[in-house]
Amino acid sequence: VPLQSCNTFGIAARAHTLVRVRSAQDLQALLADHRLARQPLFVLGGGSNIVLTGDVKPVVLKMEIKGLRLLEETDKAWIVEAGAGEVWHDAVAWTLAQGYPGLENLALIPGTVGAAPVQNIGAYGVELQDRFHSLVAVDFATGRPFTLDAAQCAFGYRDSVFKHAAPLAEHEGAGLPRGMGLAGRAVITHVRLALPKAWRPELGYLDLERRRQELGVQQPTAQQIFDWVCEIRRAKLPDPAVLGNAGSFFKNPTVTPEQCQDIIARDPKIVHYPMADGSIKLAAGWLIDACGWKGKTVGRAGVYEKQALVLVNRGTREDSVTGGEVMTLARAIQTSVYERFGIRLEPEPVVV
Ligand code: EPU
Repeated sequence: VPLQSCNTFGIAARAHTLVRVRSAQDLQALLADHRLARQPLFVLGGGSNIVLTGDVKPVVLKMEIKGLRLLEETDKAWIVEAGAGEVWHDAVAWTLAQGYPGLENLALIPGTVGAAPVQNIGAYGVELQDRFHSLVAVDFATGRPFTLDAAQCAFGYRDSVFKHAAPLAEHEGAGLPRGMGLAGRAVITHVRLALPKAWRPELGYLDLERRRQELGVQQPTAQQIFDWVCEIRRAKLPDPAVLGNAGSFFKNPTVTPEQCQDIIARDPKIVHYPMADGSIKLAAGWLIDACGWKGKTVGRAGVYEKQALVLVNRGTREDSVTGGEVMTLARAIQTSVYERFGIRLEPEPVVV
């Protein structure tokens, strides 16, 4: 089965077997089928955070479970439940149309609802974990559904229990084997979001605050912020439908204040943000840009000319970039950032 249209990089890899999962019942039936259940499984949502370096041998579960509904209303929040296969941006737009604000800063992030908790998506000062209520997932081994709250998901910066195969203590008591990571062991079927009734605009991110001032808006509505985020993203980030990419290719690294002082002494213009825990977050895009990579191309892999943190597919549909070429460029970037700044950049997408 060709996967080129199932990954936003547009890499022309194939899957040996692909199963479309349209309901929790589909999934139960599939997992009960021993022939498939004994094979490793690979969960695919919108394919917007993966680099395929070859054909995918595990059985691909293409998550297409739909549904958007108000599950519950409390004094403090609207609890909305979304199927894992809903397009994230459409779910954001739906909540705003219903009058439930809170997801506007996360507009236009590519991918599906089910993928959002896996890497704790975030943008413009808000992360999924800030609006998360709980999720429903199904255990591959037993076929049984279970619920996880935020603590059990062990959210971190672009991280969760679903990205780790190794033990994690946080989800004990969820009816799962104690202390195991969930990568390759379970699949998310539904995500529940808690959208606050006491809503306040989140304008901490410079790009948004600048837009508010330019337009002279005192108290922006959630819909206005949604529109601004869409404009900012469209101006800076390539549309995967036009130019293949997987969003930010590296995580923004954190360093100690001492390390940061060292770098500032050499590069006074470095973009850095102090974090709540005392560490300093650096802009990976700035580091890559400073090493002269912006707009460069190696083979059919390129560095986007407006945002050095985004690697793009410079090939065509018939002659697309390979995962190998993307990783070769990524390693060259890692080497030059390490040589100049002594910082190791960590890839953000999942390399398959
Ligand atoms: N910068 C440069 N040159 C570049 C790119 C960036 O100097 O080529 C500087 C910018 O001028 C800015 C700073 O670096 O001062 C940060 O850039 P930007 O505001 O574009 O954000 P980012 O840190 O590169 C992060 C997320 C994005 C998210 C934006 C907005 C990560 C890895 N990336 O990017 O998330 O949309 O902030 O909140 O945390 C993603 O995860 O795929 C993603 C796109």
